[in-house]
Amino acid sequence: MPIFYHPNTKQFHLQTRHTSYVMGIFRDRYLAHYYWGAKVREEADLTGLHVPAGRAFSPTVDPKDWHFSLDTTPLEYPSHGTGDFREPAYAAELPNGTQTTELAYVSHSIRSGKPAIEGLPSVYTESDEEATTLQIVLEDAAAGLRAELTYTVMEQLDAITRSVRFTNTGSAPLKLNRALSVSVDFDHSGFDLIQLSGAWARERHLVRRPLAYGLQGVESSRGASSHQMNPFLALLTPDAGEEHGEVYGFNLVYSGNFTARATVDQFRTTRVSMGINPFGFRWLLEPGATFQAPEAVLVYSAHGLGGMSRIYHKLYRTRLIRGAFRDQARPVLINNWEATYFDFTADKIESIAQAGQELGIELFVLDDGWFGKRDDDTTSLGDWFVHHNKLPKGLPDLVERVRSLGLQFGLWFEPEMISPDSELYRAHPDWCLHVPERRRSEARNQLILDLSRPEVCDYIVRVVGDVLRSAPITYVKWDMNRHMTEVGSAALPPERQAETAHRYMLGLYGVMERITSEFPHVLFESCSGGGGRFDPGILHYMPQTWTSDDTDAVERLKIQYGTSIVYPASSMGSHVSAVPNHQVHRNTPLTMRGDVAMSGNFGYELDLTKFTEEEKETVKQQVAFYKEIRTLVQQGDMYRLRSPFEGNDTAWMFVSEDRSEALVGYFQVLSEPNAPLTRLRLQGLDPERQYVLQETGEVYGGDRLMHAGIVIPHLHGDFQSRLFRFIAK
Ligand code: DGJ
Repeated sequence: MPIFYHPNTKQFHLQTRHTSYVMGIFRDRYLAHYYWGAKVREEADLTGLHVPAGRAFSPTVDPKDWHFSLDTTPLEYPSHGTGDFREPAYAAELPNGTQTTELAYVSHSIRSGKPAIEGLPSVYTESDEEATTLQIVLEDAAAGLRAELTYTVMEQLDAITRSVRFTNTGSAPLKLNRALSVSVDFDHSGFDLIQLSGAWARERHLVRRPLAYGLQGVESSRGASSHQMNPFLALLTPDAGEEHGEVYGFNLVYSGNFTARATVDQFRTTRVSMGINPFGFRWLLEPGATFQAPEAVLVYSAHGLGGMSRIYHKLYRTRLIRGAFRDQARPVLINNWEATYFDFTADKIESIAQAGQELGIELFVLDDGWFGKRDDDTTSLGDWFVHHNKLPKGLPDLVERVRSLGLQFGLWFEPEMISPDSELYRAHPDWCLHVPERRRSEARNQLILDLSRPEVCDYIVRVVGDVLRSAPITYVKWDMNRHMTEVGSAALPPERQAETAHRYMLGLYGVMERITSEFPHVLFESCSGGGGRFDPGILHYMPQTWTSDDTDAVERLKIQYGTSIVYPASSMGSHVSAVPNHQVHRNTPLTMRGDVAMSGNFGYELDLTKFTEEEKETVKQQVAFYKEIRTLVQQGDMYRLRSPFEGNDTAWMFVSEDRSEALVGYFQVLSEPNAPLTRLRLQGLDPERQYVLQETGEVYGGDRLMHAGIVIPHLHGDFQSRLFRFIAK
């Protein structure tokens, strides 16, 4: 059992393979946090790490002991109003209008396995031996509020998950104004903070800054995890780099509004808090009702950011992502979006698919524009029946034409949206999120369906299901192209309007659960104007995400590097597109575009019929090569070697789990005159083994490759790249 409870010290000790997380019942009442970090032996008594200290302006709980203040106690799930002035984990409003509550320890239980979180995505186990779960019940009896804190130790995968469930145990309704998933206190503030931030077309750029007094962090109030911020933050020691130093990662398994913050207080301690964004959130808890907060995944690594990333990658690859495609090689695809946009015919589609088939591509994806009257983005979202002017013989006919070429067929949907110009809107004008008497703000000419309503969810499940049943479709791109405004639901009473955004997420997860389980043979790729909802919540239902609408090879270096801080390569859709690039108008060689895209789930997004014979030959070779290395990329361990955020070149590599194979990618943005020699030290290999460089047949020891490195030949010209493939003898 990796969870131990010592009744004499009242200490809980949670152990993964390499870490310890220790807390305890303090003064028979409070749940105090003592330690999180590298593994210490189980029997160590760490309760002495907290020395109660009374300070000026820190209230005392016990008038007989002025040393004891909640303001200076490290706490596991803090409240506000009884002495702790730092960030609270929750806030409940009582029937008398006050918000002062204090949760106290009641009981705990330890069991093997990991319970699923009802209605929300979470990390899972395949057998009870994989995990151990501790549940601690806290209660404020006077308020009628109970909180069950759940901690699961994924021992071998080296991660801890946390979540919280509230119950109203009283006889009057309560209002939850804040219900975060996690709060962790650190005894100092000597950390840097890392976040993944950006915008549409430049998602998840890596941002690092030292902690300072006060509040810092990221959040979304857009109704989606967003392009702008990702529900992730990490604290790391200032000396920490890719392979050394201590890192504490926090990632929320949620796709809606979130907050992730680090607060440094007057005594230079740090509190990290993460959960649903309290801004605009309030949940009415009737007597007997429960509220479940999402799960957060906590990872500690003593081996730098790379160590943390590899823990997240493996956990998500194997125990977050589900379904048949979790362990299967993902198909190489060709998507028509940038080739045709809305302007296509069945013949045009067939010709692109035909060109793809000749080059070894396995899957054709028909993007936006195949339904309703959709010739541009002003119309038809919600009308999921075929566009007869474009596809007069219907969808099954087109699917058959593509499949008879030997390709699988995939289809784009944007099920959560509704165009004001649509049959659906004319029939159900109240089915969108809206607020009475207010403007319905549009973005990309569309509104958002109110997924807090069961009948709207049923509609989506039915219409998407009808299309998927109508033809042998084996891939779906599930898009979502705007953020929430006028967040209100025609179906909710006034006292529940502030629940709409979270109820939307619950509705969305329910829809995704129903559709993905009804169509287990379909590979689902999520998308939100590119990577606007690249989070573990969505990955639980859909094993891959379109990483960004920005397909420029240079921009993708940063986007894919930043994304890889948390998310595995197998979750990233990455395609080669035409030049000049449609987003940044840059010309990069086909080789570099291919080499960058091969670091994820590979595909093309251009009109292959327009390629010259020489270009087609290059594509053919790229596709054939990718098929050889895709298992390594999709299932291997990733090591980042050079950061695009720090210089002109980027490098990363993938190593198979048995260390018998590796692929190194080296990318140079601009050509440098009279450039110095570049030597690249590899990582993750077996120092005892000999590796053959496939391109030349040269043999290198793993020790030499890792300690002395390889010399990168001078690359002439801007936007150059090289892939090096090593196979152990
Ligand atoms: C946004 C997506 O990110 C694109 O790839 C494409 O599918 C368009 N939507 C279609 O409208």
